[in-house]
Amino acid sequence: MNVILMGPPGAGKGTQGALLAERRAMTRIVTGDLLREAVQRGTPLGQKARAYMDAGELVPDSLMLELLREVLTAPQDEGRPADFLFDGFPRTLPQAQALDALFREMGLTLDAVIVVDVPDDLLIRRLSGRRTCASCGAVHNVYFQPPRVPGHCDSCGGPLVERPDDAAPTVRRRLEVYRRDTEPLIQYYQRSGTPVRHLRGDRDVDQVYHAITRALEPWST
Ligand code: AP5
Repeated sequence: MNVILMGPPGAGKGTQGALLAERRAMTRIVTGDLLREAVQRGTPLGQKARAYMDAGELVPDSLMLELLREVLTAPQDEGRPADFLFDGFPRTLPQAQALDALFREMGLTLDAVIVVDVPDDLLIRRLSGRRTCASCGAVHNVYFQPPRVPGHCDSCGGPLVERPDDAAPTVRRRLEVYRRDTEPLIQYYQRSGTPVRHLRGDRDVDQVYHAITRALEPWST
């Protein structure tokens, strides 16, 4: 089963993607995390991507397509699950077309697109409260999932930090970019006959997870 998890910034794609990957044994491709890692390591990709990310803009398609091919065609790690879960990709029409072409080349099928819908005011609150562990990457929220010890990760005790692109003006820009470039992909997939399932993401994490697994039942083995 190959699935795209789509939704605006703060919809909970990362939160749900982590649960799905762990509980349903899927290989999760999170382009935002791959880019942040490249920025942190100062690789050529990271150096080019940084300014776009800090401004809430999309990283150019040419860079993203290079990254996608690298990740999908990398020699399979032993034990890497065969099913793919895309979180944060595709975000533009050229990216969606490139993913289709790469899937054809690899003999894979895209089974479903899950769209997580959340009202803008809640997205903004979630992003302003997000804190990520600088050591293990676990995501917390000071409003909705407060850490047991303020400022420290529940999983490993590492320091919790804010993402630079979660500042209010950047979040507003990210929302605009999502509506302009990424939301139209919903129609693209509907037109191409790929099943698209919308679900409400303004519920607690477990409820959203169960809604996603119910939506994916037809493709679950
Ligand atoms: P990326 O990292 O993909 O960011 P995003 O899509 O804007 O999504 P977020 O990570 O902000 O939110 P999320 O939906 O994962 O929510 P989360 O689960 O964390 O991309 C960042 C940047 O990289 C882009 O702006 C762009 O520059 C670049 N980029 C990435 N991919 C690209 C591509 N393909 N092409 C070009 N550029 C690209 O949840 C948010 C918060 O809410 C957390 O604190 C969480 O704990 C909390 N929360 C989640 N669910 C719930 C719930 N049900 N109830 C209460 N709280 C909840």
